[in-house]
Amino acid sequence: MNDHSEFFEVNKATWNAKVKVHATSELYDMEAFKKGKTSLMSYELNALGDVKGKSLLHLQCHFGQDTLSWSRLGAKAVGVDLSDEGIKLAKVLNQELELDARFICCNVLDTPEYIKETFDIVFTSYGVIGWLRI
Ligand SMILES: C[S@@+](CC[C@H](N)C(=O)[O-])C[C@H]1O[C@@H](n2cnc3c(N)ncnc32)[C@H](O)[C@@H]1O
Repeated sequence: MNDHSEFFEVNKATWNAKVKVHATSELYDMEAFKKGKTSLMSYELNALGDVKGKSLLHLQCHFGQDTLSWSRLGAKAVGVDLSDEGIKLAKVLNQELELDARFICCNVLDTPEYIKETFDIVFTSYGVIGWLRI
């Protein structure tokens, strides 16, 4: 195992463990989210504007609240994350909320190997770059 793959496995295990903690936390307020509250910040909404009908790739999507919030606004959204627990929950939420987002579990640095299509918008937000070994 080289340095990078060891780092990746530790990173993945850490984020898998965080999914359950975050999903039941006040910060992510799952109850309000499920009732329709967006998880997006006003500056994110303002930055992207009207996403209706646009294809949107969301990198490092955690368990998908932001991806699904874009989906609720009409984007054709795809979320990517390294955490299989995160992607599993994102898919459950997508189904429960009857949205049409897609979720892919992979290292964000390998995204082109997993997703071949192009997108109108590529989105990522706070708390992401620091986890990458680049
Ligand atoms: C702080 S969270 C992002 C939070 C997001 N802004 C939100 O509000 O839900 C960072 C995310 O990066 C993901 N991540 C870390 N390293 C990654 C990698 N190499 N490839 C894909 N995802 C990665 C983690 O699994 C985690 O979901």
